Amino acid sequence: MPDEIFKKNPIKIDSKLTEEEMNFLNQAILESDNLSFNSQLAGNISKSELIIDKDNWFYENVLKRCAETMYFRDWNNHYFVHIEKTVPFPIFKLQNLWVNYQKQHEFNPPHAHEGIFSFVVFMKIPTHWKEQHALPISINSNSPNASNFQFLLGRGTGPVNLESISLSPEDEGRMLFFPAWVCHQVFPFYGTEEERITLSGNIFKNNIFVESDTKRILPQT
Ligand SMILES: [Fe+2]
Repeated sequence: MPDEIFKKNPIKIDSKLTEEEMNFLNQAILESDNLSFNSQLAGNISKSELIIDKDNWFYENVLKRCAETMYFRDWNNHYFVHIEKTVPFPIFKLQNLWVNYQKQHEFNPPHAHEGIFSFVVFMKIPTHWKEQHALPISINSNSPNASNFQFLLGRGTGPVNLESISLSPEDEGRMLFFPAWVCHQVFPFYGTEEERITLSGNIFKNNIFVESDTKRILPQT
């Protein structure tokens, strides 16, 4: 990934994966054991399945730099780790990795993730936002959102700012990396029997890793 993407938007790292990185993820999807992950997720969608980051390749080659960059954007983290040296360098781990198969009319309601950082990779986008926003249900709206991914930025009882990500086939290979607490949702798309395929994962820090079929984790201390 080029260096400049690490210097932009404070709430997310917005990048495009290389062909090699996409090939790795597509292979991981192919090798899935078809272990359903739906019951652990908010999505109102047909199918979500756990997949494996073989040899920790995707974490080491893509996610590690994103996690460290985002962690040290917080001045307190930089101060305590690098200046005061009272906090050890963080250990991150990709704890859950899964693939979502979304059909038309299906959606993912507002939710946040577990862990410290999360990400989504758009693997297959069968629709174009221009045609989705031109549908009769959206075209006269002052907030056309059919097929969008959307961040809901805000915490507690404070104001919420919406950041919509309009998607088309050109976004295949795009990865959004963001703090796990950031609420987001996915709107339905319409007019095709093709599936939308996305891949997501959660990264944890300095925690107690619990191996189980769902790989859920104990609260951080
Ligand atoms: Fe999500």
